[in-house]
Amino acid sequence: MVKNTAAITAVGAYVPEFRLTNKLLESMVDTNDEWITSRTGIKERRILKKEGAGTSYLAIKAAQDLIAKKGLDPEDIDLVIVATATPDMLVASTAAYVASEIGANNAFSYDLQAACSSFLFGMSTAASYIESKRYKKILLIGADKMSSIIDYTDRTTCIIFGDGAGAVLFEPNEEGLGLQDEYLRSDGVGRNFLKMDAGGSILPASAETIKNKQHYVFQDGKSVFKFAVSNMADVAAKIMERNNLTHDDVQWLVPHQANKRIVDATANRMGVDEAKVMMNIDRYGNTTSATLPLLLNDYEKQLKKGDNLVFAAFGGGFTWGSIYLKWAYNS
Ligand code: UT7
Repeated sequence: MVKNTAAITAVGAYVPEFRLTNKLLESMVDTNDEWITSRTGIKERRILKKEGAGTSYLAIKAAQDLIAKKGLDPEDIDLVIVATATPDMLVASTAAYVASEIGANNAFSYDLQAACSSFLFGMSTAASYIESKRYKKILLIGADKMSSIIDYTDRTTCIIFGDGAGAVLFEPNEEGLGLQDEYLRSDGVGRNFLKMDAGGSILPASAETIKNKQHYVFQDGKSVFKFAVSNMADVAAKIMERNNLTHDDVQWLVPHQANKRIVDATANRMGVDEAKVMMNIDRYGNTTSATLPLLLNDYEKQLKKGDNLVFAAFGGGFTWGSIYLKWAYNS
């Protein structure tokens, strides 16, 4: 029996208009363009300024972009997954709201949270439903309004993160294209290196947690950097090895955009040269769950049917992994 593979058949994206440039950050905290550029590769990030708009606002715009480009009837979507670390609210599902707003009236929906690996893990989830032939059209959205949990007086985090969203459609493929292999990992040892202390079930919000600034992202950057560099490179190398891929066989590395130096280290380890590495960290910073689909959207026109893509991500928890996917269409 022919294996049913799960292919990406459409891409959409949205970033808010406001650009938080390095120059602007220089007027907010003790930093400078040279430090940010050389240590991270970031020049500017997008920030959602619209009053009362949360992550769902970004996710809906990205989904609507995909729906328009593909000419998709939203009523045909079976499942909507919103990969995010910044849901609109705790308890109420962001995905349920997004699905209703885009007219996916026959879909069920849920959120998926694995920090910066949320979208990568979501690809695995979406593909599994397709491969098992349970569902035929799955909309996977990666969206984060990181500005809602960043302290803009903390120079160690505010220079890194930005807001954005990207969406992909997964459908069955009969030519063997789509997701080929995955190697996904997690390790709770990372819990204290990258986190938001308060607002969850351990430390609910109180006057004290607000006073102590515990509703903002905390990152021990140096430690996360060390884990990220070795683990992202390890999993990408492993995926290549077990699929007998040499650097010549890989057309594109699609790496999580946390720091250009982490991406360079991963590409070096794979032996893949810079021209094959998707990058947009200079324009968007780290958008957490949105980095991978934003890359696909930016590079969509350069992708060819049959191209071998290696995805790699690393995030809080720790969570990390790599996915090998064959691109399924020419645009
Ligand atoms: O996506 C989720 C996973 N996250 C990541 O993968 C992020 C991993 N970590 C990183 O990308 C990097 O560690 C950072 C970009 C966060 C920081 O870069 P770094 O090269 O590790 O810098 P550092 O923390 O070692 O700091 C070096 C120096 C320090 O000064 P001293 O102690 O050497 O005098 C910092 O105080 O740079 C100083 N510094 C800054 N200077 C100017 C820290 N932040 C800034 C800043 N502007 N914004």
